[in-house]
Amino acid sequence: MDSILGWSLFLVIVVGLVSSMVNASTAKDDFKFCESVVKKWASFSVDEVKEDKHTLQDLLFFLHIPRTGGRTYYHCFLKRLYSSKLECPRSYDKLRFDTRKPDCRLLATHDDYSVMSKLPKEKTSMMTVLRNPVDRVFSTYEFSIEVAARFLVHPNLTSASQFSGRLRKKTNAVSTLDIWPWKYLVPWMREDLFARRDARLRNAQNYIQSNDSYDMDSIAMPLHQYINNPIATDIIHNGATFQVAGLTNNSYIAESHEVRHCVLKYDDLGKYVLDVAKKRLDNMLYVGLTEDHKESASLFADVVGTQIIFQFASSNSSPDNSANEGSEQNSSFSGSELENDPLQKLTVGELMEAYEDCITKLRKAQARRRASSLMKISPANFTKEARLKVPESVHHQIISLNKLDVELYRYAQDIFTRRHNHVMYESERQKNILINSLDSPSLRNVSGPTVLVLFILLAILFISARRRTSKVKV
Ligand SMILES: *[C@@H]1O[C@H](CO)[C@@H](O)[C@H](O)[C@H]1NC(C)=O
Ligand SMILES: *[C@@H]1O[C@H](CO)[C@@H](O)[C@H](O)[C@H]1NC(C)=O
Ligand SMILES: *[C@@H]1O[C@H](CO)[C@@H](O)[C@H](O)[C@H]1NC(C)=O
Ligand SMILES: *[C@@H]1O[C@H](CO)[C@@H](O)[C@H](O)[C@H]1NC(C)=O
Ligand SMILES: *[C@@H]1O[C@H](CO)[C@@H](O)[C@H](O)[C@H]1NC(C)=O
Ligand SMILES: *[C@@H]1O[C@H](CO)[C@@H](O)[C@H](O)[C@H]1NC(C)=O
Repeated sequence: MDSILGWSLFLVIVVGLVSSMVNASTAKDDFKFCESVVKKWASFSVDEVKEDKHTLQDLLFFLHIPRTGGRTYYHCFLKRLYSSKLECPRSYDKLRFDTRKPDCRLLATHDDYSVMSKLPKEKTSMMTVLRNPVDRVFSTYEFSIEVAARFLVHPNLTSASQFSGRLRKKTNAVSTLDIWPWKYLVPWMREDLFARRDARLRNAQNYIQSNDSYDMDSIAMPLHQYINNPIATDIIHNGATFQVAGLTNNSYIAESHEVRHCVLKYDDLGKYVLDVAKKRLDNMLYVGLTEDHKESASLFADVVGTQIIFQFASSNSSPDNSANEGSEQNSSFSGSELENDPLQKLTVGELMEAYEDCITKLRKAQARRRASSLMKISPANFTKEARLKVPESVHHQIISLNKLDVELYRYAQDIFTRRHNHVMYESERQKNILINSLDSPSLRNVSGPTVLVLFILLAILFISARRRTSKVKV
């Protein structure tokens, strides 16, 4: 009896040991495999440092990370600078995206870096805007629900889906529901909102109402559930890093999906992705920050705006402003009203002025839309005060789910500070040159026309800089 017990105990231990060894070794193999997959990808993905990265090339690719305020750049700068004719067909729309169009000079999209595989890499400049990851996640949550809530005017989910299907067929315009990541996030939230509304109707008053808008179980999916859903892992967390690395689940490149799965499985492999993303940012023509929006906008105007204006002035291919075919979305705001004056006459100062005017309008329109949509999920309301009620633990969780983005954002802040200081320094220097040159004897050796052109250029720079500073003070 004893020996049988002894033997079975022995067997159990042996089987346990063996199976855990097997488990450990397959896990190890899997890690090794993943590590090699990720390292291989990284070695192919790191680009050389571009010497001319600050020079605008023929094509400008705006890698628009969702919820970073990129729409203001698109509507208030880019659509002002490039006419629709110069925009690559169906920006923001991967399915109908077409790079063959000659003369296409602007591509703005939520697609990731892998789009670059379809672009003339040497002739492409890239720009992007980054945002504090915690705010970006909050904003993604709010926007998913905001857009989904617009459908609550319908009596049920079936009729809501049918309606949006019909509308898309009819208009042929690109809607939010066609665009990654919203094409996943909005239907997900829409289904969820309808289910919760149905449950409310069934149970009448029989539910507990919390007063934290981000945790109102009876109205919408609470934030803490949202961020822990597998869909959020698929497309929201570390979204900026994955997008810049070209590893989103929307990537064009087949191997990307294996790399992403490995990185999601093994935290340790994140550093390779981060390295690639950082180098990509280093090579970009422009990196803006949502938080420092004023400084970002003026850096954009100085660095990118100036070059676009100059590019058109010198190539003499100034866009004409006909037909604004297929705007990105049929929102109540369209940028077309900005496409009025011919570009040749535009100065950087005017560009900034138009921008300020445009974002005021754009923000008003967005606020109206948001308010009318949030009314449908009242008493939930996503305000600054409501955010303060969200427990610290949720903030910490968002940070830990977005470690790569936290570090990439910090890196982007460094890049931004360096470039901002550099441009400030240069414009100070040019002002000084201007002042010194007025009584410099060395100028006698330079030809008259050159001096004149130089003088006018510097004067424009000087005046536009002053205009902007006075604008900021108001
Ligand atoms: C082996 O791994 C599986 C799943 O990964 C787990 O369920 C099982 O408990 C593990 N066995 C041992 C002995 O660790
Ligand atoms: C959904 O609403 C439509 C329009 O009121 C109605 O015709 C349809 O029967 C409803 N469907 C369900 C499943 O309740
Ligand atoms: C609502 O908020 C107040 C203070 O803001 C708090 O005292 C109260 O307990 C909250 N009620 C619920 C149901 O959470
Ligand atoms: C991307 O993520 C969404 C949401 O989880 C999922 O439905 C979709 O199948 C994913 N796509 C790929 C290519 O993995
Ligand atoms: C586009 O929006 C405008 C108002 O914002 C509306 O009048 C028009 O009917 C919309 N067009 C389509 C096709 O939905
Ligand atoms: C939400 O909050 C904003 C700002 O406090 C307010 O203007 C708006 O009326 C509120 N909306 C609802 C539906 O309560």
